[in-house]
Amino acid sequence: RAFAEEAQPPLASLEAIKHSASACTRCPLHSGATQTVFGEGPKDAALMLVGEQPGDREDLAGRPFVGPAGQLLDRALKDAGIVREEAYVTNAVKHFKYEPRGKRRIHKSPNASEVSACRWWLDAEIAELRPRLIVALGGTAGLSLFGRQVSVTKERGQIFESGQARVLLTVHPSYLLRLPPEERTREYARFVADLTIAARVLS
Ligand code: URA
Ligand code: SF4
Repeated sequence: RAFAEEAQPPLASLEAIKHSASACTRCPLHSGATQTVFGEGPKDAALMLVGEQPGDREDLAGRPFVGPAGQLLDRALKDAGIVREEAYVTNAVKHFKYEPRGKRRIHKSPNASEVSACRWWLDAEIAELRPRLIVALGGTAGLSLFGRQVSVTKERGQIFESGQARVLLTVHPSYLLRLPPEERTREYARFVADLTIAARVLS
């Protein structure tokens, strides 16, 4: 948390923060990616969703959760009675980390120091939005928001008080995409059940 403990600059607005983040060089990840993928959504959103980092599609589009994981997330939110457009959607890490393999770019998980460096921006988003609830999608979001390693299996579906906000931990939608179809159906239902807890907290 070395970076996150520095004083935050005065927060002009989310737009100003996004603009600063577009030139961020706080960690090495900016050099390989196309662009900073900042969060998006209404400034008065009660719910903030935090993923891991942009994927290949998000890196190119410059928007969070627009690829396959985003489509699954959209469906799960709808099934939980949450309107995605009313939520603020962002990531723990705002540059795509990957390994080139031929023409493809293979996702690599960010390490603890990259997560810690990028917490600067997530902190700024949280301070500006003051969401009533944050949903941490997966272990990297959990690591960022709790400042410690989390066990998604053991700690999912619970609401934690963490600094400035209440946080509910659940799985990352990409995890569901990697499961065989028969397990995916069951795990998808559990994911929707976790999101339904979030919907209930906000209602
Ligand atoms: N996975 C994430 O964690 N975030 C995105 O924006 C897309 C995929
Ligand atoms: Fe900055 Fe985050 Fe990108 Fe690292 S990943 S350069 S901390 S915006």
